[in-house]
Amino acid sequence: MKHRCAIVVLLLSACATAGTDDGEYIFHAAGCLACHTVEDGEPLAGGRRFETPFGIFYAPNITPHAQHGIGRWTREQFIAALKHGVAPDGRAYFPVFPYPSYRLMHDDDAGKLYDYLMNRPAVAEPNRPHELPWWLSDWMIKPWQWWLQDEPPAPPGDATLTRGRYLVDALGHCGECHTPRDWAGVKDRTRYLGGTNEGPEGENIPNITPHRDDGIGKWRADDLAYYLETGELPDGDYAGSLMAEVIDNSTSHLTQQDREAMVVYLRSIEALPDP
Ligand code: HEC
Ligand code: HEC
Repeated sequence: MKHRCAIVVLLLSACATAGTDDGEYIFHAAGCLACHTVEDGEPLAGGRRFETPFGIFYAPNITPHAQHGIGRWTREQFIAALKHGVAPDGRAYFPVFPYPSYRLMHDDDAGKLYDYLMNRPAVAEPNRPHELPWWLSDWMIKPWQWWLQDEPPAPPGDATLTRGRYLVDALGHCGECHTPRDWAGVKDRTRYLGGTNEGPEGENIPNITPHRDDGIGKWRADDLAYYLETGELPDGDYAGSLMAEVIDNSTSHLTQQDREAMVVYLRSIEALPDP
């Protein structure tokens, strides 16, 4: 009897790791690890620092620790936080937590993410309070959230485009870095994925629309998919800074088919004219 269970468990776990819709796969595709982990720290125990024009934020502990993490949260509370930026006590999260992208995530994917996180090791690491300017308070985020409805442009038609868009916008949150923002920190949808020299940590973020000169218009589809897998550029150089992290933690873990879907989608979006 024992033996049979072991076989069943083995089969189940083999199935789970193979699927592109299981919790671990979604966790990688959505890139939660890097933000919620400090270098050499316990995975997901929080503490990473984000210096932004709106203040200094510290990512919280999202391990299932009952006191310091999200161990007491219900599935509904988790989905409300992830997709709508609302904390269990009703407070609004600051959008340095990229829920403006995750709100496009399907509820059952968010639920699988919850199950996955609840089965990670709990870490007793207390959260660090943010360091915010006197004028900034979480209640100011409420109207901002309401105003935020930044639908990405042009709904694509076929299954590959739909999948690619879901991976780019909802899970990969590529626009959180690659789309420039207005004065209020809202992504400028007229410059969708158009690049910016004011990245989250002040870095230069390239245009990844199919623009011929500035964007990815001259890249071959294979080269782009290879870059998302390995970080190697067509000229033999490697992705640096934040993109290396995205590739390590996220796009290198995807199936080749999913990387190709992202590339098909990126190449399909309308390249923006020069500003
Ligand atoms: C770009 C960095 C970044 C990414 C990517 C990110 N987070 Fe966060 N997350 C944050 C920050 C910063 C906060 C704190 C926001 C605040 O306090 O207003 C946060 C808050 C949270 C909270 C609230 C925790 C609490 O104690 O209130 C949860 C839950 C959460 N994130 C889960 C996730 C999951 C799941 C993913 C991946 C799908 C993810 N995060 C991806 C930066 C990030
Ligand atoms: C945390 C910020 C961040 C996120 C999120 C992000 N990127 Fe990037 N990306 C960068 C930076 C910074 C660079 C420049 C890397 C370098 O200097 O080598 C870059 C470079 C690239 C390049 C190379 C472009 C060129 O002309 O060299 C591509 C393609 C790309 N990103 C695609 C994506 C896709 C697809 C996603 C979503 C899965 C994504 N990025 C998410 C920050 C980010």
